[in-house]
Amino acid sequence: MKSINDTVLLNNKYKIPCLGFGTWQTPDGETAIKAVKCAIENGYRHIDDAAGYGNEKSVGVAIEEALAECNIKREELFITSKVWNTERGYEKTIEAFEKTLKDLRLEYLDLYLIHWPANAKQFENWDEINLDTWRAMTDLYKDGKIKAIGVSNFLEHHLKSLLDTEIKPMVNQIEFHPGMMQKETVDFCIANNIVVEAWSPLGTGRMLSNDVLIKIAKKYNRSVAQICIRWALQNKVVPLPKSITPSRIIENTQVFDFEIEEMDMVAINNMKYCGGSGLNPDEVDF
Ligand code: A2P
Repeated sequence: MKSINDTVLLNNKYKIPCLGFGTWQTPDGETAIKAVKCAIENGYRHIDDAAGYGNEKSVGVAIEEALAECNIKREELFITSKVWNTERGYEKTIEAFEKTLKDLRLEYLDLYLIHWPANAKQFENWDEINLDTWRAMTDLYKDGKIKAIGVSNFLEHHLKSLLDTEIKPMVNQIEFHPGMMQKETVDFCIANNIVVEAWSPLGTGRMLSNDVLIKIAKKYNRSVAQICIRWALQNKVVPLPKSITPSRIIENTQVFDFEIEEMDMVAINNMKYCGGSGLNPDEVDF
C-alpha cells in the first residue's frame, strides 16, 4: 500500500480504499459534520458509519457538502453503513437500509454490514435470524442498491451458514489492534476471501500509552497511532481510525511513507492482550 487511495479488491471485484475513516463515538451534529468534512478534504475517500452510531444524518450532511465543495464525484467515495441489532430479519433490514440511505442522503451504499451477529446467548434460532437478515442484504445487493455486503463482529461459527448461501460476505469488520489480533477469525476470513476491516485500530485510544508501541514509534519517528494503523495495513487489514481532531485526522493518513520492519511486526503481533472494548460477540446482550 503506497497511498490512501490504493484499493483492495473484494471477492466481487469491487474496490475498497485501504484506509477508512471511523465515526463510532463521533457525536452527532456539528462535530460529526466537521470531522467527516475534514477527513474528505484531507484525502480520505472511505467513510465508515452505522445506524447504531446515531450520527448518520450529520454524516450525510458532511458528505453532501464535501461533494459540492471539494469537486469530488460520488463514485470516488466509499460509504459504509450497518444494520443495527434491533432491525434484524428480512423486512426490518430492508426498512432499516432505506432509512440509512435517506439519512445519509445517498442513492446507493458501497458497503452494508450486519453490525453484530444474533448470538446463542440471546436467541435459540440465532443462525436462522442471521440468515434472514443476510437474505435481505443479498436482495438489496442484487437490486444494485449496495455495491458490496458483509458482516461485522462475526466469528467463524456465525459466518459458516452465510458462506453456504448464493452471495458470500465480502467483508468482516472486527475489533483489531495490537494485543487483539483475533487471529483465528482473520485467518478464517482470509481463507474464505473475506476482507477484514479493523474497528478501533487504536484500541479506542488505549494503545497510545503502551510501552512496547511507544518504543517502536520512537524508532520510526512516528506516533503510536501511526504505528497501529501501519501495522494493520501490513497485516492486510483495512483500518478505520476515528478522530474528531483535525491534526489527528491528518496524522492518521501519514502512514504510507514508511514500513515497519519484520522484527517489529512480529513484536507487535506477539503482544498480549492489553485492553480493548471487552465486547465478545457471543456474550453481548444488546
Ligand atoms: P479524538 O477523536 O478526540 O481525536 P479508535 O479509532 O481506535 O477507536 O480510536 C479513537 C480514539 O483515539 C479517539 O479517542 C481519538 O480521539 C483518538 N485518536 C485518534 N487518532 C489519534 C492520534 N493520531 N493521536 C492520538 N489520539 C488519537
